[in-house]
Amino acid sequence: MNELQEIEEQRQYIKKVSKINENKNLKYTILTMGCKLNENDSEKICGMLEEMGYSRTEDINKANLAIYNTCCVRENAEERLFGKIGELKQIKKKNNLIIAIGGCMMQEPHILEKIKKSFNYVDIVFGTHTIHKLPEDIYKVIEKQKRVEDIIDIDGKVYEDLPIRRDSNIQGSVTIMYGCNNFCSYCIVPYVRGRERSRKPSDIIKEVKELANKGYKEIILLGQNVNSYLRSEMEAIAKGTLKDEAGDYKEIDSFAKLLRAINKIEGIERIRFISPHPKDFTMDVIEAIRDCEKVCKFIHLPLQSGSTKMLKIMNRKYTKEQYLDLVEKMKKEIPNVKFSTDIIVGFAGETEEDFEDTLDVVRKVGFEQVYMFIYSRRKGTPGDEMENQIPEEIKHKRFDRLKKLVEDQIAIDNEKYVGTIQKVLVEGLSKNNENMLTRKNRNK
Ligand code: SAH
Ligand code: SF4
Ligand code: F3S
Repeated sequence: MNELQEIEEQRQYIKKVSKINENKNLKYTILTMGCKLNENDSEKICGMLEEMGYSRTEDINKANLAIYNTCCVRENAEERLFGKIGELKQIKKKNNLIIAIGGCMMQEPHILEKIKKSFNYVDIVFGTHTIHKLPEDIYKVIEKQKRVEDIIDIDGKVYEDLPIRRDSNIQGSVTIMYGCNNFCSYCIVPYVRGRERSRKPSDIIKEVKELANKGYKEIILLGQNVNSYLRSEMEAIAKGTLKDEAGDYKEIDSFAKLLRAINKIEGIERIRFISPHPKDFTMDVIEAIRDCEKVCKFIHLPLQSGSTKMLKIMNRKYTKEQYLDLVEKMKKEIPNVKFSTDIIVGFAGETEEDFEDTLDVVRKVGFEQVYMFIYSRRKGTPGDEMENQIPEEIKHKRFDRLKKLVEDQIAIDNEKYVGTIQKVLVEGLSKNNENMLTRKNRNK
């Protein structure tokens, strides 16, 4: 079966389930952990569920179906998930609730074991490559009263045209590629999301045009390494293992060209993307950002560490100097460009000197925003096997020092906006104060 036939088969299951569910006023609740890619997967899950006749509720006690879409990038999510599944046991007894747990954590064998052993009342477990099969899984549970485990450990395919129920009607997330080939030594993502595979340019353009027609103003292009978009496909074409007979990649064969094509779509006002990798930030991408007026001049450029020694251990494939040069090059090419970043504190072998290098890069670049993480050991990654792990206490102390530096820098930086007028896209009410609106300015 090819991808189209597989999706058609699932559409039949959607019809079957919606027939069974007719006039029952059934509800689902969903909890999404992790990154924007997971959120976008959840939007597709919600789309399928709503076509199957479920409507959304935030109240677990009113739900007939509970879905948890999990993340395993750091350890703290595990305890939280197990606590949550534990809470469902009583509710399941009362309401005959169907429980489905999916996402990245389910691709980890030891987690799957634990769920089977300790939470045998979970009805469905699904992985990152089988989200599209949820209609079939749900059908089997309802019709056959059967527990379903639907996880595959190969690299998933690219499925198009799944139903989708988006969280926002202003900002639309568009996943452009799946998986990751980088194997940074601390990171679990390549093991749970498989190898890189990109969507066809025409499918992405079609999705963005549909969003523009519906009135969406902002597009966020998603992938673990967006600036290697189509790289695997181009390598396969060069090797002769993939033939582009339909001319799918004739006009657009890189991330830079994709940006330029999306920039031309009428109605869209802003384009952002996460995450690019510094090692793949080629000049064509920098020029595309500079030339495309809709692309936000606010770039998320994950640093992870400022120490060349640590970057090598992390398998990041750039040095401190290369990162700083890249920032300089971008500042030169793109007027008023601003940066945000991700930093990991306390990876194995990090010395005081290494950490000082990280602080040094933070001082030099002057990030608008820094997402800071304490290193969390992940089973199955090289980082977990390394000796000289850093004691928790030192990790926390360094984290606090980094946090203080970042906060001080941002406070000083924000002063320059006081009294200025900025064009903003209002995104909704503030989460903290209903009398205020949340906004992002053109750069941000
Ligand atoms: N593909 C993206 C982000 C992936 S995960 C990138 O390469 O930038 C998001 C962030 O989580 C990473 O940037 C990293 O800072 C952090 N992270 C990943 N693994 C981690 C770990 N084991 N412990 C702590 N933080 C981690
Ligand atoms: Fe993880 Fe590195 Fe891939 Fe990002 S690029 S997902 S940090 S392995
Ligand atoms: Fe987490 Fe999976 Fe995203 S591990 S960060 S939800 S790709």
